[in-house]
Amino acid sequence: MLITKRNSLDALADNALNPDHSKPASATSRWLLWATVAIACLLATFFVVRHVQAAADPYVQEVLALQGDRDRGQEIFQMNCAVCHGIEADGEVGPSLLGVSARKSKSKLIQQVVSGNTPPMPQFQPEAKDMADLLEYLEQL
Ligand code: HEC
Repeated sequence: MLITKRNSLDALADNALNPDHSKPASATSRWLLWATVAIACLLATFFVVRHVQAAADPYVQEVLALQGDRDRGQEIFQMNCAVCHGIEADGEVGPSLLGVSARKSKSKLIQQVVSGNTPPMPQFQPEAKDMADLLEYLEQL
């Protein structure tokens, strides 16, 4: 049973590496294929775990539960962020944020502001309401 299973896995690898069956796949290329599959699974798990952790963060939850005010968010942005991202958020020393919500989810945007993980962008600690307003502004860019 076990042997059959292993053989069928090998056949699968053979097929993936060698669709025209011209020559059997070498042990090295099989090994590389399985190593790639294993790494892809690990990476996928890592990103899913990170995503779930970010979304489960109590601060993120608190912000997401609030209705943001875009105009107030714009004022907060102009006072705290415009120096790097430009008064219209179209980029200065920091990148343009136009259309940023297409690239980053709400919880990613919050993390970006509060984490301090990407220097030189500083770590901000806005009140949840301020963050909700800022988020509303960022989402509409
Ligand atoms: C000192 C300059 C600076 C300030 C102030 C600053 N940022 Fe940034 N920001 C950056 C830089 C530089 C990056 C790029 C970081 C990276 O990805 O390595 C960035 C990245 C970002 C991104 C991610 C952009 C993307 O394309 O993924 C967002 C969103 C963002 N900043 C929002 C803000 C907000 C909101 C504020 C104000 C609360 C702010 N930033 C203040 C410099 C700054």
